[in-house]
Amino acid sequence: MPEPRVVRHPLVDIRLTTLRDERTDRATFRAAVRELTAMVVYEAMRDAPTTPTEITTPVATTTGAVLANPPVLVPVLRAGLGMAEAAHAQVPGAVMGFVGVARDEETLRPTPYMASLPADLAGIPVLVLDPMLATGGSMAHTIDLLAERGADDVTAVCLVAAPEGVARLGEAHPSVEVVAAVVDERLDERGYIVPGLGDAGDRQFGAM
Ligand code: PRP
Ligand code: URA
Repeated sequence: MPEPRVVRHPLVDIRLTTLRDERTDRATFRAAVRELTAMVVYEAMRDAPTTPTEITTPVATTTGAVLANPPVLVPVLRAGLGMAEAAHAQVPGAVMGFVGVARDEETLRPTPYMASLPADLAGIPVLVLDPMLATGGSMAHTIDLLAERGADDVTAVCLVAAPEGVARLGEAHPSVEVVAAVVDERLDERGYIVPGLGDAGDRQFGAM
């Protein structure tokens, strides 16, 4: 299993601080999610191959680049929805699929409620967008759905990950890379990431 790739940058740190602070209001929290998502997606796409393309500037002809194999973006509802627009802005040509999973807060098991995904994902890079990788159950379920459709190049793009979730993904899906803004200390007895930021869905969209 590859080690998680963590984005180290002061501009990441200040946004994580905004997200972690319990005093941050909902609109500010959502803005920090968007800004941090742009940075983590930027890192996740670092090694994406490009194809040269000839273009003409107002001054001269030169060689530009297009993505050789644009990814499919898959936000995990609800909380991943807050990452969708910022990720799409980074990769405008991407197709977007959607998965809905809610964690049962008693058992901590994922409860799936929807999936809208391309039927054939073989050979296509997939970026799964979920701000929180805690026990890893929701991400492992999502990657199971992708694997059923032939996906063989999956990256989990998270804002805050727990070592327990990283380890679980490594066992269930050893080829999947995790790119995160930070890997925190641990999970608490309720399955929350410590220090974490609380419930990412509730903090963006309100408690259900
Ligand atoms: C959160 C988060 C992940 C999941 C992580 O979603 O967005 O999907 O928990 O926990 P896990 O790694 O232990 O599975 P939640 O289930 O709270 O649903 P929501 O996005 O609808 O708020
Ligand atoms: N889901 C969240 O939103 N936050 C956590 O800390 C764990 C799971």
